Amino acid sequence: MFFERGLGSAIGRWLASEILILVHSTAMHAPAPSGDLIPIAAEVAIEFRNVVYRFSSVGGPLLKDVTFPVHRGETLVLLGRSGSGKTTCLKLINRLLSPSSGAVCVEGKPTDQWDVIRLRRGMGYAIQDAGLFPHYTVGRNVALVPRLEGWDQQRISDRVTEVMRLVGLPEAEFLKRYPDQLSGGQRQRVGLARALAAEPQILLMDEPFGALDPITRTEIQQEFQKLRQNLGKTIVFVTHDLAEALLLGDRIALMEDGRMIGPFSRRDFLASDAELVRDYLRAYRTSHNPLLGSSETRTGNA
Ligand SMILES: Nc1ncnc2c1ncn2[C@@H]1O[C@H](COP(=O)(O)OP(=O)(O)OP(=O)(O)O)[C@@H](O)[C@H]1O
Ligand SMILES: [Mg+2]
Repeated sequence: MFFERGLGSAIGRWLASEILILVHSTAMHAPAPSGDLIPIAAEVAIEFRNVVYRFSSVGGPLLKDVTFPVHRGETLVLLGRSGSGKTTCLKLINRLLSPSSGAVCVEGKPTDQWDVIRLRRGMGYAIQDAGLFPHYTVGRNVALVPRLEGWDQQRISDRVTEVMRLVGLPEAEFLKRYPDQLSGGQRQRVGLARALAAEPQILLMDEPFGALDPITRTEIQQEFQKLRQNLGKTIVFVTHDLAEALLLGDRIALMEDGRMIGPFSRRDFLASDAELVRDYLRAYRTSHNPLLGSSETRTGNA
């Protein structure tokens, strides 16, 4: 078992209550906490420079002048509602898309100057719907990039064992199954194992825990939290979920209609005066704690 279930859910409950307190207290206009957790001189691993992305000449751009750095070793969370442009940002990083103007740089070099195979093999990409090859077994899906990289058989098989254990899928049970013999959450975990398998320095994660039940999700979030602290990878992590963003993000950026607000440190995000950030916090608070109502309602008469 990759995680102690009782402990995991206890930590999850504690964390959820801490986050709720934080969200509520900042929503009640507590003084803005100071201090960004990211050192100013941190090295940049990925950088968007005035990126505009248009799908076609008709209609508006999907991304509108987006500029931000991702520092080496940090986890940057892209938070935002459906259709706001989060997945588009990830696709631009691994050159599934190219900017219409501006540049996306990885290790200081625009993506269109990279050898695209090298660029992609240096990144693990857990895509939104897992994106497994249906005609490959779980084992073969997970081993995909190590095989392409020419690892020897023993190293591949040791690594597959390791990442399968990490994501909580016992090899004996799952290795030989095909994707259509798995639940949605299990497929997502195979996608995560595949993204981790070749030990890439950069991880792009598109709602990787979206299909998991709350208990498994809490467990795997905790496990992932330890992993990211230990391995020092650069991670761009997409989610709708504020609690997940606050747990896993060193910094958080809000996407809205192709624009980016932030990135902020966690504290600065919660204390932000930006109207769209406040709207997101308010909507999240209401949807996750409807019985309490909004803080404006509760504090309005105070
Ligand atoms: N191939 C495409 N052609 C035209 N429009 C597209 C295409 N792909 C995405 N879009 C549009 O671009 C916008 C941003 O899409 P994107 O997938 O980046 O959103 P998202 O923030 O990841 O949303 P979600 O949370 O639902 O996954 C959406 O309005 C979407 O409809
Ligand atoms: Mg998306």
